[in-house]
Amino acid sequence: MKESNDWNANKYKKHADFVSVLALPVVELLDPKKDEEVLDLGCGEGTLALEIKKHGANVRAVDLSSEMVEKTQSKGIEASVMSATNLTFENQFDAVFSNAVLHWVKDSELAIQKINKALKKEGRFVAEFGGYGNIKNLTDAMQEVFDNHTSWGQFENPWVFLKDSEYKILLEKNGFDVEYIELIQRPTPIDDIVNWLDVFANGITKNLSKEQKEIFKEKVREVLKPKQYNEKDGWSADYVRLRVKATKVQKTN
Ligand code: BEZ
Repeated sequence: MKESNDWNANKYKKHADFVSVLALPVVELLDPKKDEEVLDLGCGEGTLALEIKKHGANVRAVDLSSEMVEKTQSKGIEASVMSATNLTFENQFDAVFSNAVLHWVKDSELAIQKINKALKKEGRFVAEFGGYGNIKNLTDAMQEVFDNHTSWGQFENPWVFLKDSEYKILLEKNGFDVEYIELIQRPTPIDDIVNWLDVFANGITKNLSKEQKEIFKEKVREVLKPKQYNEKDGWSADYVRLRVKATKVQKTN
């Protein structure tokens, strides 16, 4: 369920496994129950969908990437290609779960409306995604490299990182009671920023030549190294998570 990016499932597995591993507290917050109907919105390769299924819930999964959907299906989970703003479900789920996806969705409010519609009354929405300040050093470095290469065009940031207060307002405006919402600073160890860029930022460089793409990655690495690398711990990304649990109290249109 990742927008404006190309998803290579093998690279994702190799360099971005931390995405699911670090999200286990979000599954705890969801607290899936036996026989509940749960939608995993943006399932990626299905690791968390499987985790939820282990609790006895019936899991349905969607993702924008057909390659990721196939990986999820291979784990025995019913999955299909669908975006957050085009969910077709109505009054179907006891819970909608989403990890590391909703910052890719430009129209946050429309996604909230579709999630509301997909839920049964009093169904819960439990999610974590990038929040205000997320990867600020990283996006600043990308911006700087584009500014230094004006022939490449403008740096177009594909992500939306909202404040907790902003997201709470959107939820309340669209039929949810917010039980819990928090911005969590979570510096995250990664293997090398070049690999992170390969997996997550290829949409940003889609109009560049092969050579320019390599220059982009090396220059971002150079700019970022003083802030996000040290000899002892290696590379980290300056992640800030927006974690939320909300309950459907009324229907949206
Ligand atoms: C995130 O999970 O915060 C994230 C991942 C990839 C790109 C941007 C943000």
